[in-house]
Amino acid sequence: MMSDDIETRRCELQQSLDAQKTQKQRNLMGQFATPYPLACDIMKRMRQLCACGNTISLLEPSVGLGAFLSAFHNVFGNKAGHALGFEIDSHYYEPAKALWQEQDIDLRNADFLTVTPDNAYDMIVANPPYVRHHHIDTDTKQSLRNDVKEYCGINISGLAGLYCHFMILSTKWLREGGLSCWLVPCEFMEVNYGKAVKEFLIHSVELLSIHRFLATDVQFADALVSSCVVIFRKVRPKTNYQILFSEGGSVSAPERQMLIDSQTLSVEEKWTSRFNDNTNSTETDTGGTTARLGDFFTVKRGIATGDNHFFILDSATIEKYSIPRKFLVPVLPSPRYFKANSVSGCNDGLLDTDSQLFLFNCDLDESTLKASYPTVWQYVRQGEEREVNKRYICSRRTPWYSCEKREPAPFIMPYMGRGESSKQIFRFILNDSNAITTNVYLLLYPKKSYARYIADKSTRSKVWNVLNSISKTRLMNSGRVYGGGLYKLEPKELMDLPVPEMTKILKPQTKVVQLALF
Ligand SMILES: C[S@@+](CC[C@H](N)C(=O)[O-])C[C@H]1O[C@@H](n2cnc3c(N)ncnc32)[C@H](O)[C@@H]1O
Repeated sequence: MMSDDIETRRCELQQSLDAQKTQKQRNLMGQFATPYPLACDIMKRMRQLCACGNTISLLEPSVGLGAFLSAFHNVFGNKAGHALGFEIDSHYYEPAKALWQEQDIDLRNADFLTVTPDNAYDMIVANPPYVRHHHIDTDTKQSLRNDVKEYCGINISGLAGLYCHFMILSTKWLREGGLSCWLVPCEFMEVNYGKAVKEFLIHSVELLSIHRFLATDVQFADALVSSCVVIFRKVRPKTNYQILFSEGGSVSAPERQMLIDSQTLSVEEKWTSRFNDNTNSTETDTGGTTARLGDFFTVKRGIATGDNHFFILDSATIEKYSIPRKFLVPVLPSPRYFKANSVSGCNDGLLDTDSQLFLFNCDLDESTLKASYPTVWQYVRQGEEREVNKRYICSRRTPWYSCEKREPAPFIMPYMGRGESSKQIFRFILNDSNAITTNVYLLLYPKKSYARYIADKSTRSKVWNVLNSISKTRLMNSGRVYGGGLYKLEPKELMDLPVPEMTKILKPQTKVVQLALF
């Protein structure tokens, strides 16, 4: 049996060994350890899947200091059998060897991907190195691609990261019927190079489940936000079988899950969209109803000025016409010129930027304006000379230069986005200033019952994280696409957007159902 002492020592060692390396060095070798609570959660899931009463043997192909070895002993107890671990870097291998010497654990200082299997294991659990393809030298990459082709007949792209090769080639070390579990980036589900992995998972083995972490699963470090846990069994797959897709909560007790027929999953599609898929799935989520953004927010377009050239003022124009502050409302620049994801307010709630813009907004009629603020009246007159007052929106207002009054909103979203290469099409901007916006943005106003909670800075920041964690696919599916990959979302479409993850922070208000008595 392993003592708690080993885990305490392992944690301390992890910290000091990691600290001796630069971030760049750790990136090059994919050296980011699994947090112990997560390792235990993953092992618990594996324990649920290992129904047999025998002891289980474990292979850890990229063992580091052995977070999974520790979790294996903790969760499997006396069912934890022999374990084998590989570690390429002696910086971690030597201390790991010393740490685990008294256990039934064989540790080898080697490149796992070059070793020929000499045994067959019941289970593999791994957090492989996330080394990107451009850090793998050409010869190694070619030899790995040949190995994959030879093992399962799949052509893997030269752009595949090292973790893809680990997932596929390690299967040689599993006994028939053995289980394999991988903490890997979600990326393979979305990008081209991931096709080989998807093909392998549905056609060469039996994919059991994929659990995706959400940005709100705060118990995990940031690096794991876009990670998932993939579990498969080494058996020839049936023509059709069901795969569990889950997200939120923990791996062993997910918050939301759906079953997907393997036959309907194609290697061409982005599997991440399946996590939001209501078709062909058995879904459980927040009490049987899906929370929508409109349950928490009223979404409105920003102000339609009628002529931004006239109504949006820079400091030079304000100075030239001595326009007093009371006729000016801070306004965000257009998204084309405003790339930040948050806006902080400084004194007076103004934007914390050098290029502050203002919306001109005045209710005074022209004669009062002329008498009390002659320079401002001049500005209005020069607008009339340009016939701004005759424009559709302006002509329907009295006076024509008085815009709609608007409160600042805590969250703002540009209503258009381009899809091509960017990871994110739509971004939610956290607005801590008094700025409002023109109609190229959508403004999210908390419903009355949530305003108090969202006024709290930390809650506001959590809500903002949730908004930005909403997948690109889900947002795309809710809006419309125009030529050239331009996506747009209207207020109603955004209010209809499913946001089950928001219920972790804001509880949906129960609707009062009135029963009529006859
Ligand atoms: C993401 S870390 C995970 C460590 C450990 N399994 C955990 O979960 O904390 C990956 C580890 O694999 C090691 N590694 C990288 N390439 C390897 C290779 N080709 N063979 C064996 N180990 C390798 C790295 O040095 C690193 O310690």
